[in-house]
Amino acid sequence: MKLKLNLIVAILLAGSICASAQQVNSLSINLKKAGAPIQPTMYGIFFEDINFAADGGLYAELVKNRSFEFPYSLQGWKAFGKVEIKDDGPFERCPHYARLSDPGHAHKQTGLDNEGFFGIGVKEGLEYKLTFWGRTPEGGSGAIRAELANTTSMEEVHYFCQETITVSGSEWKKYEATLTPTKTDPKAILRIFLEAPRTTVDIEHISLMPVDAIEGVYRADLAQALADLHPGIFRFPGGCIVEGTDLATRYNWKNSVGPVENRPINENRWEYTFPHRFYPDYFQSYGLGFYEFFRLSEIIGSEPLPIVSCGLACQFQNDSPDAHVPVCELEPYVQDALDLIEFANGPADSKWGSLRAQMGHPEPFNLKYIGVGNEQWDQLYPDHLKPFVEALRKAHPEIKIVGSSGPDSEGAQFDFLWPEMKKLGADLVDEHFYRPYEWFLSQGARYDNYDRKGPKVFAGEYACHAKGKKWNHFYASLLEAAFMTGLERNADVVHMATYAPLFAHVEGWQWRPDLIWYDNLSSFRTVSWHVQQLYGQYRGENTLPLTMNGTPVCGDEGQNGLFASAVKDGKNIYVKVVNTSGEPQNLNFEFTGLKKKNTIKGIKTINLCSDKLYEDNSIEVPCNIVPTEQEFKAEGKCIDAQIDAYCFSIFVLAYE
Ligand code: AHR
Repeated sequence: MKLKLNLIVAILLAGSICASAQQVNSLSINLKKAGAPIQPTMYGIFFEDINFAADGGLYAELVKNRSFEFPYSLQGWKAFGKVEIKDDGPFERCPHYARLSDPGHAHKQTGLDNEGFFGIGVKEGLEYKLTFWGRTPEGGSGAIRAELANTTSMEEVHYFCQETITVSGSEWKKYEATLTPTKTDPKAILRIFLEAPRTTVDIEHISLMPVDAIEGVYRADLAQALADLHPGIFRFPGGCIVEGTDLATRYNWKNSVGPVENRPINENRWEYTFPHRFYPDYFQSYGLGFYEFFRLSEIIGSEPLPIVSCGLACQFQNDSPDAHVPVCELEPYVQDALDLIEFANGPADSKWGSLRAQMGHPEPFNLKYIGVGNEQWDQLYPDHLKPFVEALRKAHPEIKIVGSSGPDSEGAQFDFLWPEMKKLGADLVDEHFYRPYEWFLSQGARYDNYDRKGPKVFAGEYACHAKGKKWNHFYASLLEAAFMTGLERNADVVHMATYAPLFAHVEGWQWRPDLIWYDNLSSFRTVSWHVQQLYGQYRGENTLPLTMNGTPVCGDEGQNGLFASAVKDGKNIYVKVVNTSGEPQNLNFEFTGLKKKNTIKGIKTINLCSDKLYEDNSIEVPCNIVPTEQEFKAEGKCIDAQIDAYCFSIFVLAYE
């Protein structure tokens, strides 16, 4: 099929004439009465530590296995000379450290190299803060020399910056130095030498952070990509990692708070979930823990939505009922949920609230939602959820509870769980759909007939996965945009929606497509990111009824591949139209319910259009397919416009 090359969807002709010679898709928008409010939580983000999203991604730490706590203590490190790993360090839950001693000959060296996450990415001139805990166990003064180096380089000298730090005394102390690279390198290493006088030095929790990390925690470009989405809700910490492959590896929020030096690591289930993309050194340092998630919600202006384990290990990976906590033994899990609410909202002198205060946030985080369980199914799930609902309702009637409809977008489990969630009184139900083109094209009206009296919908994980094309590409994103008109039209029942997964390292992914990709130095925002961003930015306050020949515009037969919805935002109107067909379409907006004296004026259009259906953005070409803005000159109660083939357009209008 030959596609029109001109990406500019032009918009055209103002007019008060509602008819035209060509075929016109007449969209009627009723302004008489504002429809359902669109929740501020409507469009959001879902974070899971998959694809090296936390360590190696959003968490700006550059050192892998910084506390020698991986099961193989030197994973991520290369040791040389005389290095021993000891386990009686200063941090109870992370007891390991390295002892560096004199190698016994003036020409030999003792030390450690750290490989980082797919290398250590550093930028010329940017400062990097090196910190570690150290002591000289036999007393006196010792020294270490830290270098950033590239050992694969042909250059005469491998290192390109170095600092020497004196370590003294047999008490553990924190040391700090600044490394400023003289060149940019995506794949450096951190090299540590035991320096003269070669006094034995113990070293622990070796950290390297770029100084531009937001609050010393979040990688700047990735955090910015989240803020720019204007997310209303922030679900964390997963996904399957909430459940764990077994209960021992579930995400335990209590291990993720307090001083970072004392947070025990957790095995990341995405290390081995897909043996064809196996990452033997994928662990969670919990450096990005619940405090950091709550704080990030605050920074980017979204409501936090933590998910806790309901005592069921991943049901995909466990057939035996013995893998799960029996309902009668769920009390500690329920207590974890109650304690989490205290951690987020409790007074600064309460047990868990005081930990939050010590960590730097005496004010509450104002948590309003909690999710219990992820993709669970069978009778097991409602049985496990019930004690949580009872305890949470009793102690915290103000907190909204999010239940789950399982891993499928429809079918037996889905049909079983929805009524169960209603019976239990869940406030929202999390639905997941990673589905092909046809599904997205056929689901524009999915929520039109949902029960208006039941729990609200949280479309908690979704993405268009074309068959055989499980990577990011424009056409899949376009269908997501089309489907989202149905979310918007049904804002009375759909209160939250989050694309998934959020992040992926180009060298460390297990699952795609994803919303934001990066390597060690740069990142790019996919077309799906732009779709989400446009929905977030043009969310509006209330829905407006929009129909074509009296029916919603959701890609039905006779609707020429169009999907559309409209919202009101003060005096502004945002009409979202998605043309999934390969032909440009003439549109006519007919505004009804207006007073005689009122008129509608066009302001601009934002257009995300392309004929490169199977392409996306990339590290090399981050702006291959991005939205463009055009002026939209139009006035009247009927307005003609046009939308190009394969195009998502937002028409911004105002009424006077
Ligand atoms: O987003 C990746 C995974 O997909 C999530 O962990 C899980 O909830 C779903 O199966």
